[in-house]
Amino acid sequence: MDVDIGNALASVASPGVSREALDRLDEQVADAHERIEQGMANADHGYEALNLPERTDPDAIRATVDPLTDAGALVTIGIGGSSLGAATIVDALSSDTETVFLDNVDPEWVTAHLDRLPLEDTAINVVSRSGTTAETLANFLVAREAFESAGVDWTERTIVTTGESGPLRDLADRHDLPSLKVPDGVPGRFSALSAVGMVAAAVCDHDLDALLEGAAAEAETLTGSLYECPAYAYGATTYALDARGAGMNAMVPYAESLETYSEWFAQLWAESLGKDDLGQTPLRALGVTDQHSQLQLYRAGPRDKVVTFVRPTETADRSIPETEVDDLAYLGDASLGDLLAAEFEATEASLAAAGRPNVRVEIDRVDEYELGGLLYGMEAACVLAGELYGVNTFEQPAVEWAKKATRGLLGGGEFAEADAVAEKTELR
Ligand code: PA5
Repeated sequence: MDVDIGNALASVASPGVSREALDRLDEQVADAHERIEQGMANADHGYEALNLPERTDPDAIRATVDPLTDAGALVTIGIGGSSLGAATIVDALSSDTETVFLDNVDPEWVTAHLDRLPLEDTAINVVSRSGTTAETLANFLVAREAFESAGVDWTERTIVTTGESGPLRDLADRHDLPSLKVPDGVPGRFSALSAVGMVAAAVCDHDLDALLEGAAAEAETLTGSLYECPAYAYGATTYALDARGAGMNAMVPYAESLETYSEWFAQLWAESLGKDDLGQTPLRALGVTDQHSQLQLYRAGPRDKVVTFVRPTETADRSIPETEVDDLAYLGDASLGDLLAAEFEATEASLAAAGRPNVRVEIDRVDEYELGGLLYGMEAACVLAGELYGVNTFEQPAVEWAKKATRGLLGGGEFAEADAVAEKTELR
């Protein structure tokens, strides 16, 4: 990926960061890079995720999913980091396999999907690192019952990705289900480039090797300077802008196929950096759609945001037909791609003209190789930002608190978190 921070500089934007401040920050980037390299070399928890391009075995993933590659539909059951990486990849790329992601436990929505899908032609991809997440286990039990009711042998149509032990591993062993292991040291939101994110891609026949090659090429760019490394340029600049008042980061891809990527980014940024009263709040938007809604706020609202544009520079195109109305002649000379590019350039320039910081991230096109680079690059940016903030990027105690409280409230174990909720409820 390429990163252009020109519109985040203090000479253009307020809040903006000066060249001198970036030069000083670059010394911290060099130190942070040393810690990151050391963490990767030691395979330390979290840092190990940046080793995935060389650790992930695409042959093992392909071999495991092989019996199910003819499925017409794939239901992935997982949540958060056990869903969003896979969803980002398959939503970005086209495939003949219909993909459904059951993360929420809204009963009407889950039932509607299970009632609608041709279950005899549907595969289940159940993913949970811990193997204990209530939403995932509940949806799996509900899906499996739906398969049984439809007379379909779910054990023939299910792949499990989970840790070495835990309730989901027990289920997989008990029913002899094909399974893959979540790699050690890789937190959920950093696991897109492991089996967690790539089983769905493999069932959809996407090119796993190209995904990993793109990520490996991005890994090659990790050096000790934000001026030489696009990922660090992004992580350091957004960190510096946050310190100057841009506490929100609006992710705006200019490609419909990257809408889910914004969701993935939001989790990565929020769950990794939101600690110790620090962190930048991610916002999700889509170009051009949100030019007609959120852009007003981004250009003229509080000066508390940075806008991140992500755009593929090459897209398939379609010409706009000529028209009999003179006032619309300009459209007949253009294509939808020309219009999209003009919208992007106009929006970027309008923010810069209003002194609103924005960063441009470019990939060549939306394909496996470029996606691998984008996912890896943003993960590396996040790890660098975490080092600069001084937070523990790879833990998520607030998320774990709620998970335990939920299980405790349903009688799934003794958790102080559940007692705290019960006490609060009694006070009402
Ligand atoms: O990034 C994370 O750690 C979380 O979002 C988890 O992925 C999410 O809570 C699901 O956890 P699990 O994979 O254990 O079911």
